[in-house]
Amino acid sequence: MKILAIETSCDETACAVVEDGRKILSSVINTQIPIHTKYGGVVPEIASRNHVMDLPYVIDEALAQADMKLEDVDAIAVTRGPGLVGALLVGVSQAKAMAAVLKKPLIGVHHIEGHIAANYLQYPELEPPFLCLVVSGGHSHLVHVRDYTDFEILGRTRDDAAGEAFDKVARVLGLGYPGGPKIDAAAKRGNPAAIDFPRVTLERDSYDFSFSGLKSAVLNYLNSKKQKGEEVVPEDVAASFQQAVTDVLTEKTVRCAEELGMKKVVIAGGVSANTELREELANACSQRGIEFYYPAPVLCTDNAAMIGSQAYYDYQNGERADERLDAKPGIRIGQDHQTKA
Ligand code: KG4
Ligand code: ZN
Repeated sequence: MKILAIETSCDETACAVVEDGRKILSSVINTQIPIHTKYGGVVPEIASRNHVMDLPYVIDEALAQADMKLEDVDAIAVTRGPGLVGALLVGVSQAKAMAAVLKKPLIGVHHIEGHIAANYLQYPELEPPFLCLVVSGGHSHLVHVRDYTDFEILGRTRDDAAGEAFDKVARVLGLGYPGGPKIDAAAKRGNPAAIDFPRVTLERDSYDFSFSGLKSAVLNYLNSKKQKGEEVVPEDVAASFQQAVTDVLTEKTVRCAEELGMKKVVIAGGVSANTELREELANACSQRGIEFYYPAPVLCTDNAAMIGSQAYYDYQNGERADERLDAKPGIRIGQDHQTKA
């Protein structure tokens, strides 16, 4: 089954063709990062306008790269949420029109479930159940993926998402947008033990996260250095901050896997592209005999192939959208899946 998938939830206009949930026939990502960089973050209205202008070309390119015509596609999938509502609506409208004209099934996909499914593209043998750490610009979740369409959220951030913390710290360090990759690069030249930023682990029995205290600690450190007229080494701040985030994410994930007896740990979302996080989790898992799975960086950040993968499993679960499909900017993981008989 060949699914054409569309992703427009934030600042990437993307389209892909995916076969049977596992094989990428094409994946085109048109990033708007250069457009939003001058504003220091994504401007929602500008994102929507650029999706409107670019999406038709991105779809044509995805079909051309897959060497297919629109009529050869078996179904149309689209991210229905979460994300920026105006940005989502562009993809949803396009997908609905295409499905109606082609008389093909339409599948509305949850963006974060798509991030998790990126691992099915990377590892054709990977099957649920597993524990997934989802860390993106808007979400930080520990999810028990019981089955392809059956998710249990075990922990979540109580304030900032991990990616949000990366972006904010990068901004105050003057490293630019998006912050994650900038901090990742700067940290390679810094000392992760230079500054002892707090590791907020909350209650012993909780799998929740909190990153706002760490973010404030970085701001306080920078302010106090400024007041004292002392020099700041941005690379050391980046490395020490990244280390603090990584330590907390690793500790919680591994503890959760051990306590629940899970043998497979998977990571997903933009922050899962982080070099230090991948290394530390890989080590922690191998020491405990846990299998560790992580997607290639291009599959960590937003793309449409991951939506095409999850769409296949939603379809197998009997899920079909129709002309009433709407963008749902705040939809939760697992919400709206039909329960299996
Ligand atoms: O999953 P994603 O592309 O979009 C959302 O669904 O939010 O995640 C984007 C987030 C941004 O906050 C970005 O700074 C972060 O992922 N990110 C990284 C890295 N690459 C992207 N964070 C840390 N290290 C990276 N290498
Ligand atoms: Zn995303």
